[in-house]
Amino acid sequence: MHTSIALGASAAVCLAALAVAQPASAQDCPVEAADAYEMTDVQVTALYACMEAAMADAYAQGDNPVADSYRDWTVTGVRPGPDPTHGDRLLLTFANEIAADTYLQFAEEGVEMLVGGILAKESIAINDGQGRVGPLFIMEKLGLDAAPETGGWSYTAVQPDGQMMNVPQSFCHDCHMNFEGRDGMAYPAAELRVAR
Ligand code: HEC
Repeated sequence: MHTSIALGASAAVCLAALAVAQPASAQDCPVEAADAYEMTDVQVTALYACMEAAMADAYAQGDNPVADSYRDWTVTGVRPGPDPTHGDRLLLTFANEIAADTYLQFAEEGVEMLVGGILAKESIAINDGQGRVGPLFIMEKLGLDAAPETGGWSYTAVQPDGQMMNVPQSFCHDCHMNFEGRDGMAYPAAELRVAR
C-alpha cells in the first residue's frame, strides 16, 4: 500500500470480489510475472502498450460518455501501478479538463475538486499469465446539493463489456473518505505521479 492512511482490508477484498471475471479483450498480452507487484517498469509499459487500444475499445462498447472520451484527458501517472484497494490491479487515472489542474497538484490538504471534475481510472488484472481488462472506475464531482451523502462525488464503473457496474455509492465512498483532506482523492503512488 502506497499511502500512510490505513484502509480497511475487508473493503479491499470486497472490491476484488466485485471484479468482473470476463475480459472483453481477445487480445493476447502475456505477462511473465506472478502478479502486478512483481512486474518491472519495462514489463508494465510493454503490457500497457499491448492492451491499451483494446481496453479503450472494450469500455466504449456501451454508451457511457466517459468511456468514450477519457483517453483524450490528462494522464496523471507515468505508467499504471498496482494497488490492493482496487483488486491488486494495475491502475492508471485520467483527469478531465476541469479536474486536471486540481488533481495534478497532488496536494495533501485543503483540496477541493471543482464541480464537473471527472477522474477515470483504467484497471488491468493479471490472471493466468495474461493481462485482462478490469473495470473503468469513475468519480465525478456533482457538488453537495446533488450528492450530499458522498461529499458531492458520484461513483460509477464501466465493465470491460461497456456495461455499467452496479456499485453502491457508500461502498466506494466509505473508503475514499479516508482521503478527506484531499476531497476524497487517493492519487497514484508518489513515485508514479506525473511531474507538473
Ligand atoms: C478500499 C478502498 C477503496 C475502495 C473501496 C474504492 N477505492 Fe477508489 N481508490 C482507492 C485508492 C487507494 C486509490 C488510489 C490508487 C492508485 O491509483 O494507485 C483509488 C483511486 C480511485 C480513482 C482515481 C482518483 C483518485 O482518487 O485518485 C477513482 C476514479 C476511483 N478510485 C474510483 C472508485 C470507485 C468508483 C469505487 C467503487 C466501485 C472505488 N474507487 C472504491 C481506494 C478505494
